[in-house]
Amino acid sequence: MNVIVSQDFEESCKLAANIMLEQIVCKPDCRLGLATGSTAEAIYPHLVNAYQSGKVDFSQVRTCNLDEYVGLEPDHEQSYRASMDRWLFDHVNIDKGNTVVASGQGDPAAATLQFKEEIKKDGHMDLQLLGVGENGHIGFNEPAEKLHLFAHREQLSDSTIEANCRFFESKSEVPKEAISMGIGDIMQSRKLLLVAYGKNKAKVMKTLLMDEFVTTMVPVTLLKLHRDLTVLIDQELAAEIGYTGDIVT
Ligand code: GLP
Repeated sequence: MNVIVSQDFEESCKLAANIMLEQIVCKPDCRLGLATGSTAEAIYPHLVNAYQSGKVDFSQVRTCNLDEYVGLEPDHEQSYRASMDRWLFDHVNIDKGNTVVASGQGDPAAATLQFKEEIKKDGHMDLQLLGVGENGHIGFNEPAEKLHLFAHREQLSDSTIEANCRFFESKSEVPKEAISMGIGDIMQSRKLLLVAYGKNKAKVMKTLLMDEFVTTMVPVTLLKLHRDLTVLIDQELAAEIGYTGDIVT
Protein backbone atom coordinates (compact mmCIF):
# COMPACT_ATOMS: atom_id res chain seq x y z
CA MET A 1 0.00 0.00 0.00
CA ASN A 2 1.30 3.41 -0.95
CA VAL A 3 0.05 6.09 1.44
CA ILE A 4 0.41 9.74 0.53
CA VAL A 5 -0.27 12.35 3.20
CA SER A 6 -0.85 15.72 1.59
CA GLN A 7 -1.07 19.13 3.18
CA ASP A 8 -4.80 19.46 2.74
CA PHE A 9 -7.76 17.96 0.93
CA GLU A 10 -7.33 20.22 -2.09
CA GLU A 11 -3.80 18.89 -2.51
CA SER A 12 -5.06 15.29 -2.24
CA CYS A 13 -7.57 16.02 -4.99
CA LYS A 14 -4.90 17.47 -7.28
CA LEU A 15 -2.67 14.46 -6.69
CA ALA A 16 -5.54 12.05 -7.33
CA ALA A 17 -6.40 13.87 -10.55
CA ASN A 18 -2.75 13.75 -11.63
CA ILE A 19 -2.62 9.99 -11.09
CA MET A 20 -5.77 9.63 -13.21
CA LEU A 21 -4.36 11.92 -15.91
CA GLU A 22 -1.11 9.93 -16.03
CA GLN A 23 -3.16 6.82 -16.59
CA ILE A 24 -5.00 8.41 -19.52
CA VAL A 25 -1.80 9.75 -21.06
CA CYS A 26 -0.08 6.35 -20.71
CA LYS A 27 -3.04 4.46 -22.13
CA PRO A 28 -5.45 6.73 -24.03
CA ASP A 29 -8.09 3.98 -24.31
CA CYS A 30 -7.88 3.05 -20.63
CA ARG A 31 -10.91 1.98 -18.64
CA LEU A 32 -11.43 4.09 -15.55
CA GLY A 33 -13.58 3.04 -12.63
CA LEU A 34 -15.22 6.18 -11.26
CA ALA A 35 -16.77 7.08 -7.93
CA THR A 36 -19.31 9.56 -6.64
CA GLY A 37 -19.74 11.36 -3.32
CA SER A 38 -18.37 14.70 -2.18
CA THR A 39 -14.77 13.44 -2.19
CA ALA A 40 -14.85 12.33 -5.82
CA GLU A 41 -16.79 15.46 -6.79
CA ALA A 42 -13.83 17.61 -5.69
CA ILE A 43 -11.43 15.67 -7.92
CA TYR A 44 -13.29 15.97 -11.23
CA PRO A 45 -12.80 19.75 -11.71
CA HIS A 46 -9.05 19.08 -11.94
CA LEU A 47 -9.68 16.63 -14.79
CA VAL A 48 -11.93 19.16 -16.51
CA ASN A 49 -9.25 21.87 -16.14
CA ALA A 50 -6.60 19.57 -17.59
CA TYR A 51 -8.87 18.85 -20.56
CA GLN A 52 -9.68 22.52 -21.09
CA SER A 53 -6.00 23.40 -21.11
CA GLY A 54 -5.33 20.75 -23.73
CA LYS A 55 -3.37 18.40 -21.48
CA VAL A 56 -5.54 15.34 -21.94
CA ASP A 57 -7.80 13.70 -24.47
CA PHE A 58 -10.81 11.70 -23.28
CA SER A 59 -11.95 10.62 -26.74
CA GLN A 60 -10.95 6.98 -26.29
CA VAL A 61 -11.40 6.71 -22.52
CA ARG A 62 -13.97 4.23 -21.24
CA THR A 63 -15.47 4.54 -17.77
CA CYS A 64 -17.60 2.53 -15.40
CA ASN A 65 -19.09 3.91 -12.22
CA LEU A 66 -19.14 1.96 -8.99
CA ASP A 67 -22.81 2.24 -8.21
CA GLU A 68 -26.21 3.87 -8.65
CA TYR A 69 -29.26 4.41 -6.46
CA VAL A 70 -32.26 2.22 -7.25
CA GLY A 71 -35.37 4.22 -8.04
CA LEU A 72 -33.80 7.43 -9.31
CA GLU A 73 -34.34 8.37 -12.95
CA PRO A 74 -31.09 9.20 -14.76
CA ASP A 75 -32.06 12.87 -14.87
CA HIS A 76 -32.75 13.06 -11.11
CA GLU A 77 -30.22 15.56 -9.75
CA GLN A 78 -28.90 13.08 -7.18
CA SER A 79 -28.67 10.09 -9.50
CA TYR A 80 -25.06 9.16 -10.04
CA ARG A 81 -25.60 9.32 -13.83
CA ALA A 82 -26.71 12.97 -13.61
CA SER A 83 -23.92 13.74 -11.14
CA MET A 84 -21.25 12.30 -13.43
CA ASP A 85 -22.61 14.20 -16.42
CA ARG A 86 -22.63 17.43 -14.41
CA TRP A 87 -19.20 16.97 -12.82
CA LEU A 88 -17.23 15.47 -15.70
CA PHE A 89 -18.79 13.96 -18.80
CA ASP A 90 -20.51 17.14 -20.03
CA HIS A 91 -17.22 19.07 -19.88
CA VAL A 92 -14.74 16.78 -21.61
CA ASN A 93 -14.59 15.08 -25.01
CA ILE A 94 -15.61 11.67 -23.73
CA ASP A 95 -18.00 9.58 -25.81
CA LYS A 96 -20.95 9.10 -23.43
CA GLY A 97 -21.57 5.79 -25.17
CA ASN A 98 -18.35 4.66 -23.47
CA THR A 99 -19.53 5.61 -19.96
CA VAL A 100 -21.27 2.93 -17.93
CA VAL A 101 -23.45 3.81 -14.95
CA ALA A 102 -25.94 1.22 -13.70
CA SER A 103 -29.53 2.14 -14.40
CA GLY A 104 -31.52 3.26 -11.39
CA GLN A 105 -34.83 3.12 -13.23
CA GLY A 106 -37.02 0.21 -14.22
CA ASP A 107 -36.71 -3.31 -12.89
CA PRO A 108 -33.71 -3.41 -10.51
CA ALA A 109 -33.09 -7.13 -11.15
CA ALA A 110 -32.80 -6.53 -14.90
CA ALA A 111 -30.69 -3.40 -14.35
CA THR A 112 -28.31 -5.37 -12.11
CA LEU A 113 -27.92 -8.09 -14.72
CA GLN A 114 -27.27 -5.52 -17.40
CA PHE A 115 -24.68 -3.77 -15.21
CA LYS A 116 -22.96 -7.11 -14.58
CA GLU A 117 -22.76 -7.72 -18.33
CA GLU A 118 -21.46 -4.22 -18.99
CA ILE A 119 -18.69 -4.60 -16.40
CA LYS A 120 -17.64 -7.92 -17.91
CA LYS A 121 -17.92 -6.91 -21.56
CA ASP A 122 -15.16 -4.34 -21.56
CA GLY A 123 -12.56 -6.03 -19.32
CA HIS A 124 -10.93 -4.98 -16.07
CA MET A 125 -10.53 -1.38 -14.99
CA ASP A 126 -7.04 0.03 -15.37
CA LEU A 127 -7.60 2.35 -12.45
CA GLN A 128 -10.45 2.48 -9.95
CA LEU A 129 -11.11 5.68 -8.03
CA LEU A 130 -12.66 5.10 -4.61
CA GLY A 131 -14.07 7.09 -1.74
CA VAL A 132 -15.06 5.46 1.52
CA GLY A 133 -18.29 5.59 3.50
CA GLU A 134 -18.31 6.53 7.17
CA ASN A 135 -18.98 2.89 7.97
CA GLY A 136 -16.18 1.67 5.71
CA HIS A 137 -18.28 0.82 2.66
CA ILE A 138 -16.70 1.03 -0.76
CA GLY A 139 -18.99 1.52 -3.72
CA PHE A 140 -22.13 0.54 -1.85
CA ASN A 141 -20.68 -2.66 -0.38
CA GLU A 142 -22.02 -2.30 3.13
CA PRO A 143 -20.44 -3.97 6.19
CA ALA A 144 -21.71 -7.54 6.49
CA GLU A 145 -20.58 -11.06 7.30
CA LYS A 146 -20.47 -11.87 3.59
CA LEU A 147 -19.74 -9.47 0.76
CA HIS A 148 -20.75 -9.91 -2.88
CA LEU A 149 -17.99 -10.48 -5.40
CA PHE A 150 -19.87 -9.08 -8.36
CA ALA A 151 -22.52 -6.51 -9.26
CA HIS A 152 -25.57 -6.86 -7.06
CA ARG A 153 -28.38 -5.03 -5.31
CA GLU A 154 -27.54 -3.73 -1.89
CA GLN A 155 -29.84 -2.58 0.92
CA LEU A 156 -28.35 0.63 2.26
CA SER A 157 -27.58 0.66 5.96
CA ASP A 158 -29.17 3.22 8.27
CA SER A 159 -25.82 4.91 8.74
CA THR A 160 -25.35 5.30 4.96
CA ILE A 161 -28.87 6.67 4.54
CA GLU A 162 -28.15 9.07 7.39
CA ALA A 163 -24.78 10.09 5.90
CA ASN A 164 -26.18 10.62 2.41
CA CYS A 165 -29.36 12.46 3.42
CA ARG A 166 -27.40 15.73 3.21
CA PHE A 167 -27.78 15.46 -0.58
CA PHE A 168 -31.59 15.12 -0.42
CA GLU A 169 -34.41 17.29 0.92
CA SER A 170 -35.13 14.81 3.68
CA LYS A 171 -34.05 11.42 4.96
CA SER A 172 -37.20 9.81 3.58
CA GLU A 173 -36.14 10.78 0.05
CA VAL A 174 -32.84 8.88 0.22
CA PRO A 175 -33.17 5.65 -1.78
CA LYS A 176 -33.01 2.55 0.39
CA GLU A 177 -31.36 0.40 -2.21
CA ALA A 178 -28.52 0.63 -4.71
CA ILE A 179 -26.86 -1.37 -7.46
CA SER A 180 -23.15 -1.69 -6.79
CA MET A 181 -20.05 -3.31 -8.22
CA GLY A 182 -19.00 -6.14 -5.96
CA ILE A 183 -15.81 -6.31 -3.97
CA GLY A 184 -14.36 -8.74 -6.55
CA ASP A 185 -15.06 -6.30 -9.38
CA ILE A 186 -13.20 -3.61 -7.45
CA MET A 187 -10.27 -5.86 -6.56
CA GLN A 188 -9.83 -6.83 -10.22
CA SER A 189 -8.89 -3.29 -11.18
CA ARG A 190 -5.18 -3.07 -12.01
CA LYS A 191 -4.73 -0.05 -9.74
CA LEU A 192 -6.81 1.31 -6.88
CA LEU A 193 -6.84 4.93 -5.78
CA LEU A 194 -8.60 5.71 -2.52
CA VAL A 195 -9.11 9.28 -1.33
CA ALA A 196 -10.43 10.09 2.14
CA TYR A 197 -10.78 13.23 4.20
CA GLY A 198 -12.74 14.44 7.19
CA LYS A 199 -12.99 13.41 10.84
CA ASN A 200 -16.00 11.23 10.08
CA LYS A 201 -13.69 8.90 8.14
CA ALA A 202 -11.09 8.65 10.93
CA LYS A 203 -12.36 5.46 12.51
CA VAL A 204 -12.45 3.39 9.32
CA MET A 205 -9.25 4.89 7.94
CA LYS A 206 -7.49 3.98 11.19
CA THR A 207 -8.63 0.40 10.70
CA LEU A 208 -7.33 0.48 7.14
CA LEU A 209 -3.98 2.10 7.86
CA MET A 210 -3.06 1.06 11.37
CA ASP A 211 -4.66 -2.32 12.14
CA GLU A 212 -3.16 -5.57 10.95
CA PHE A 213 -6.34 -7.35 9.94
CA VAL A 214 -8.99 -7.33 7.29
CA THR A 215 -12.69 -7.69 7.97
CA THR A 216 -15.82 -7.67 5.87
CA MET A 217 -17.36 -5.61 8.68
CA VAL A 218 -15.16 -2.74 7.46
CA PRO A 219 -15.13 -3.41 3.70
CA VAL A 220 -12.40 -0.86 2.95
CA THR A 221 -9.90 -3.06 4.85
CA LEU A 222 -10.13 -5.67 2.07
CA LEU A 223 -8.27 -3.25 -0.17
CA LYS A 224 -5.13 -4.13 1.83
CA LEU A 225 -5.08 -7.35 -0.18
CA HIS A 226 -4.60 -5.45 -3.46
CA ARG A 227 -1.09 -5.23 -4.91
CA ASP A 228 -1.39 -1.68 -6.20
CA LEU A 229 -3.35 0.49 -3.79
CA THR A 230 -2.62 4.19 -3.35
CA VAL A 231 -4.28 5.95 -0.42
CA LEU A 232 -4.48 9.73 -0.28
CA ILE A 233 -5.26 11.44 3.01
CA ASP A 234 -4.47 14.89 4.31
CA GLN A 235 -2.40 15.94 7.30
CA GLU A 236 -5.46 16.63 9.43
CA LEU A 237 -6.88 13.14 8.98
CA ALA A 238 -3.42 11.60 9.46
CA ALA A 239 -3.07 13.48 12.77
CA GLU A 240 -6.57 12.43 13.84
CA ILE A 241 -5.71 8.75 13.47
CA GLY A 242 -2.10 9.06 14.63
CA TYR A 243 -0.68 8.04 11.25
CA THR A 244 2.88 9.21 10.84
CA GLY A 245 3.84 9.00 7.20
CA ASP A 246 5.74 11.30 4.90
CA ILE A 247 4.10 14.60 4.16
CA VAL A 248 3.84 15.32 0.44
CA THR A 249 3.86 19.01 -0.32
C1 GLP B 1 -21.42 7.09 -1.42
C2 GLP B 1 -20.81 6.29 -2.56
C3 GLP B 1 -19.43 5.78 -2.19
C4 GLP B 1 -18.59 6.92 -1.63
C5 GLP B 1 -19.25 7.45 -0.41
C6 GLP B 1 -18.43 8.52 0.27
O1 GLP B 1 -21.94 6.30 -0.43
N1 GLP B 1 -21.60 5.18 -2.94
O2 GLP B 1 -18.82 5.23 -3.34
O3 GLP B 1 -17.31 6.44 -1.33
O4 GLP B 1 -20.50 7.99 -0.83
O5 GLP B 1 -18.95 9.77 0.05
P1 GLP B 1 -18.33 11.14 0.52
O6 GLP B 1 -17.11 11.32 -0.31
O7 GLP B 1 -19.38 12.15 0.20
O8 GLP B 1 -18.03 11.03 1.95
